[in-house]
Amino acid sequence: MSFTIAIDGPAAAGKGTISKRLAAHFGFGHLDTGLLYRAVGRLMLTGTEPVAAAQALVAADLEAEGLRTAQVAQAASKVAAIPEVRAALVDFQRAYARRSGGAVLDGRDIGTVICPEAEAKLFVTASAEVRARRRFDELQGNGVQTDYETVLAETKERDHRDRTRADAPLRPAEDAVILDTSEMDIESAVAQAIAAVNATM
Ligand code: C5P
Repeated sequence: MSFTIAIDGPAAAGKGTISKRLAAHFGFGHLDTGLLYRAVGRLMLTGTEPVAAAQALVAADLEAEGLRTAQVAQAASKVAAIPEVRAALVDFQRAYARRSGGAVLDGRDIGTVICPEAEAKLFVTASAEVRARRRFDELQGNGVQTDYETVLAETKERDHRDRTRADAPLRPAEDAVILDTSEMDIESAVAQAIAAVNATM
C-alpha cells in the first residue's frame, strides 16, 4: 500500500523538521526534494550546464558536500525556474511517492504538481522575519559569520523567485492544510501536522 504526505512551503518554515518527524511517526520514507535542486545548483556553480546536470543526476550527487550553503540555495532556486530541469526530476519524485510503506515528500510543488493525488497535504509557512531569524540562529550555532539583515534579504529574494516563476510556483494546493508556525514552537507544529495527517486516514 502506498500513502503520500506532501509538505510544501517557503524556506525555513519548519518543513524539514516536520517532514522528518512525520516520517518517523508513521514509519514512512522521507524525500527532501530541495536536495535535488541543490545538487543541480551545485553542479551549475562548478560549470555543468543545469539541464544536463538534472538529466544525469545520480543518488551520490544528493550526498555531496556543501549542499546546505546559502550560495547553493540561491543557485538551486535559479535552476529550479528552468522547466527542463524540473521535468527531468519529476519521475524520480513520483516513483518515490509511490514506494510501498508510505512516503513524505517536502518541497515547493509536491501537492500542486508532483503528487496532486497525495492522501495528505500540508503547507507549512511563517513570516519572512521569523524564518530569517530561525535561519540566522541556526547559522550562528554552526559558527557561520553572517548578519540577520543579509539572511532576511536572501530569504525574501529566494521566496520571490520561487513564488513568481511560471513553472510550478510555490503556492498552497487548494486542498492543503495551512500550518503557520510563526508563533509556534516546533513541538506544537509537529503535533498539529500529525493531527492533520491522522484526520485524512
Ligand atoms: O527546500 P530547499 O531550501 O532545500 O530548496 C532549495 C530550492 O530548490 C528552493 O528555493 C526552490 O527554488 C527549489 N525547490 C523547488 N521545488 C521543490 C523543492 C525545492 O523548486 N520541490
